[in-house]
Amino acid sequence: MAFTIAIDGPAAAGKGTLSKAVAAHFAYAHLDTGLLYRAVGRRMLDGVDPLEAATSLLAEDLDADDLRTPDVAQAASRVAVIPEVRAALVDFQRAFARRDGGAVLDGRDIGTVICPDAEAKLFVTASAEVRAERRFRELLDRGLETTFETVLADVRERDARDMDRVAAPLLPAEDAVQIDTSGMSIDDAVAAAIAAVTEKG
Ligand code: C5P
Repeated sequence: MAFTIAIDGPAAAGKGTLSKAVAAHFAYAHLDTGLLYRAVGRRMLDGVDPLEAATSLLAEDLDADDLRTPDVAQAASRVAVIPEVRAALVDFQRAFARRDGGAVLDGRDIGTVICPDAEAKLFVTASAEVRAERRFRELLDRGLETTFETVLADVRERDARDMDRVAAPLLPAEDAVQIDTSGMSIDDAVAAAIAAVTEKG
């Protein structure tokens, strides 16, 4: 089986960990589409027009170390509301999804807009508090100074922007399998995700 697997959900729900594990399990390629918006947001913070940044994005821009900071995450969610920016990133994502050998794409609109024909769709959620706690620990582990309250406010702000926007808002595809990871260990969540995909095969 060589599927396209769409994994969507809000910030810090565990999509990254799940997507990597699912991709490794099926030996598929993986694209974290949040990195595209982060790379555009990063360049906007440097003064580049977001649309200009989106149309000239290079694959190597996605490797930059500084894309995983809270400031860049906020900038990413601001450029992500611009329909022209989203449109400029569609072809790259669809080409990735169609590659031989199968692909896992994670983001906000993969199952709804980018790959509505994906063979397997997961929508990964967790409560805002659980997601903020996970992101808080991750940032502390990386040596960034912050507070739980700051991270929770950031998660809620990005949720609101992602869900309320007109262009490709965050919402589960009708045929998505929903996985709430709030009370789950990583291993259990990975097992649930792999089982959900296998069932489609
Ligand atoms: O997934 P990640 O937190 O890295 O995404 C950063 C931001 O990029 C999100 O808050 C969201 O606004 C935007 N995004 C999006 N569509 C995607 C992936 C990310 O709008 N497919």
